[in-house]
Amino acid sequence: MSLIELANISKSYKSGTSKVEALKEVSFTVDRGEMLAIVGPSGSGKTTLVNIIAGFLTPDSGKVYLKDVDISTYSDGQRAKLRSDFWGYIAQDYLLIPSDTAYQNIEIPLQYTDKVKRSDRKKKVYEVAKKLGIEALLYKKISSLSGGEKQRVAIARAIVNDQEVILADEPTGALDIENRDHVVEALRELQSVHDKTVILITHDLEVAYNCDRIIRLHGGYLVEDRVLNSGDKEDDYDLAVAEDAYRDS
Ligand SMILES: Nc1ncnc2c1ncn2[C@@H]1O[C@H](COP(=O)(O)OP(=O)(O)O)[C@@H](O)[C@H]1O
Ligand SMILES: [Mg+2]
Repeated sequence: MSLIELANISKSYKSGTSKVEALKEVSFTVDRGEMLAIVGPSGSGKTTLVNIIAGFLTPDSGKVYLKDVDISTYSDGQRAKLRSDFWGYIAQDYLLIPSDTAYQNIEIPLQYTDKVKRSDRKKKVYEVAKKLGIEALLYKKISSLSGGEKQRVAIARAIVNDQEVILADEPTGALDIENRDHVVEALRELQSVHDKTVILITHDLEVAYNCDRIIRLHGGYLVEDRVLNSGDKEDDYDLAVAEDAYRDS
């Protein structure tokens, strides 16, 4: 049994009179404990895909299975519950509340779950802050933090409720190399030490090549799905050939 299975997912947007096909019949499975990179140029459908997995969007056709259960027919309420209990979502622009403190932001998923008792919330926030080395920031407002600090707060919020799967949409996009590497290390540690499954969307092939597997989107099509071996580097991968192969198959 796969942890997650996407089966023939298609999604289009209407803008005015035109229609944008953001995802076209995308299928793949994710096993528990994988660290998976989703890459592809801007506009290739990465954010749409992760929003469908997290249940912010419903596909036009196709199914999403979580442990063999079809969650694409879930109600809004059921999907919201999965987001607080199961998916740890790190949005492209963090989606932190700038006028609140780090503590208040990290606590949010705990307010929507019955997994953690109210009296244990503070302990959970402190535990996760310690894990990410941000205890000293807890009572600072988000608006006063640096990019790298905000990022760690966003990661803390994504794991405070012991969510099993971390969905991170370009979490290193706005960071310098040093902070980028810290974030990648933190995500890798979640996978290797804390048994999380990590799905990481990135533009940055150096980040992608630190993962275990790469899925590449292009124009809404899945054009590559490859397990990486240690030492694999960005190679002379021929996008056009791969794309034709997938379209014909
Ligand atoms: N809300 C929306 N309304 C209309 N078009 C959208 C919307 N969101 C995304 N798109 C379009 O769908 C395509 C895929 O977008 P997106 O999933 O954001 O790609 P990526 O994250 O890879 O940049 C793009 O052409 C984008 O312009
Ligand atoms: Mg995006």
